Order: sequence, then structure tokens, then C-alpha cells
Amino acid sequence: MNIETIAVVGAGTMGNGIAHVCAQHGHVVHLVDVDDQRLQAALITVKKNLDRQVKKEVISTEAADATLGRIATFTDIPSALAGADLAVEAATEERETKGAIFRQMDAAAPAHAILASNTSSISITWLGSQTGRAHRVIGMHFFNPVPVMKLVEVVRGLDTSDETFATIMDLASALGKSPVPVSDAAGFVSNRILMPMINEAVFCLMEQVASAEAIDDVMKLGMAHPMGPLTLADFIGLDVCLAIMEVLHAELGEDKYRPCPLLRKMVAAGHLGRKTGRGFYDYSTT
Ligand SMILES: NC(=O)c1ccc[n+]([C@@H]2O[C@H](COP(=O)([O-])OP(=O)(O)OC[C@H]3O[C@@H](n4cnc5c(N)ncnc54)[C@H](O)[C@@H]3O)[C@@H](O)[C@H]2O)c1
Repeated sequence: MNIETIAVVGAGTMGNGIAHVCAQHGHVVHLVDVDDQRLQAALITVKKNLDRQVKKEVISTEAADATLGRIATFTDIPSALAGADLAVEAATEERETKGAIFRQMDAAAPAHAILASNTSSISITWLGSQTGRAHRVIGMHFFNPVPVMKLVEVVRGLDTSDETFATIMDLASALGKSPVPVSDAAGFVSNRILMPMINEAVFCLMEQVASAEAIDDVMKLGMAHPMGPLTLADFIGLDVCLAIMEVLHAELGEDKYRPCPLLRKMVAAGHLGRKTGRGFYDYSTT
């Protein structure tokens, strides 16, 4: 199946990156968010990241301008999905929010369109069940920052068709990514392993085993991680980390997935990491 126009639903951390990569590879992109400020911020971020690519001579100035020119913004799903061959949902990691979005997308998208989710942990099979086209629903799990990270976990729901799976594997490759097929299980592979590690780092901080800097140093210097787990959590967003731990805990039912109380406290206080200027570290001056 030929994918030309791609709607990206949610213009936050991931949505702007997905829009950037799709537009850079020649697709018309319809970026939609309920919050107009997030849309404006997303365009500024895409422009900044394109400028960085030009400076590094990854792309030409003309290609950067053309990329930005291919992204149109919308504040309602029906307008954004009109004429789309694919919609990639990258909205807030809440089951009810995503369920409602999938019902709306199903009603608005052309019959042939594939509906993908960038969810980190919510069941693709369940999202498919919210639509009348479960065979055209799939997980397309990008990583942050999207223009840089190569991996896309391609997640098959119970009813995802072979054709949908093949189309999305091919598209991910055409976007310069390395798609890896995984089954529909809580957290897939990436977050099943990553999030409990981050959660354990927060327990170490809460129990004063070491300072945030020391915890990150141990994992960088001893395990050759490019970034410590608390720095990474700030980068991902602490609300996103908590939401994923909640899903792992609820679906897998084991105590080892219990979200750390300090993680809950940080989210309750609105200290969500880089995006709010404060998480385990202070970003107010950067
Ligand atoms: N942050 C990461 O590192 C990361 C990595 C991989 C996957 N993900 C997943 O990507 C998705 C988005 O995460 P994020 O970090 O970009 O979140 P974010 O909070 O930065 O952005 C979410 C956006 O969704 C918008 N939104 C909420 N409800 C909406 C609706 N009904 N219609 C349209 N837009 C709506 C919000 O206004 C916000 O701009 C989540 O499912 C998350 O699990 C995140």
C-alpha cells in the first residue's frame, strides 16, 4: 500500500519528531493537537532541529525549508485525517484518551487508512477493538529524539493483518529507521526492560543510596550507558514513565513493577523533567 499523507495526532515531545521525520522523507504531514500552543511549540522545535541538521550538513537548507513546508497544523481530528493514508497517534499516554482518539480517527479516516499508535505500553489489540478496522491498527513505537534514534518497535495486535504489518515495516525502513517486530505485550520489549530500571534508580534516590548525579555516574561509567537513568527519565518525561509503570504493574500484576512513591510525588508536583524545566535535575537555565 502506498503511504503519501500522514496525520500525526499529538504534537508533544514525540509528535513533533514523528512529523519532522515523515516530512523530511517527502510525506505530506497533518499535525493535530487539542492545544494550539503545543502545535506552535512543535513547529519551533522542528525548525530548530532542522537548523541543527543543516549545520551538521545532514540536509541542505532547501530540503529543510521543504520539510517545514510539508507540515500543516490542525486542532481537530476530522480535518487532519481527511485524505490521510496513515495516522500515527502520539497523544498523552492515557488509556481513555487514546481509546477516544482511536474511535474518532476511525470515524474520520478514509476506509483504506492505517491507524498506528506510538504508545509505549497500551495494548494495540485493545486500541484496535475501539475501531471497526482492527486489521488496520498497529503499533509504531518510535524513540526519543525521533530524528536521531533508529529503532521503531512495530507491534502487531491480535487482528493486525499481514498487509498492514508489511506496509508499516516498509514505511519505517523508508523513513531511515530500523523496524523490529514485537508482540503486543505490556511495555513491548523496550519499556518492559527500561522502565523497571528507571524506577529502581528512583528507589535508589528515594532511599538515599546515592545522589542523582552518583546514580547516573554509576550507570554511565560502569555499564557504558550513554545517559544515566535519571537523566533519561527527565528526558522522556516523568509522567510518561509513571504511566508506563502503572500499565506494567496493572497488566503483569507483579510487585516488582510497583511505581516508586518518589516518582508519583514528582509527577503530582508537576516536576515532569525537561518539558517543565524541572525533574530530577533543574533545566530552568538551559
Ligand atoms: N517521551 C518519550 O520519550 C516517548 C518515547 C516513545 C513513545 N512515547 C509515547 O508517545 C506518546 C506521546 O508522548 P509524549 O512524550 O510526546 O507526550 P507529550 O505530553 O509531550 O505530548 C502529548 C500531546 O498529546 C496532546 N493530546 C492530548 N489529547 C489529545 C487529543 N485528544 N487529540 C490530540 N492531541 C492530544 C497533548 O496536548 C500533548 O501535546 C505517548 O503514548 C508516549 O507513551 C513517548
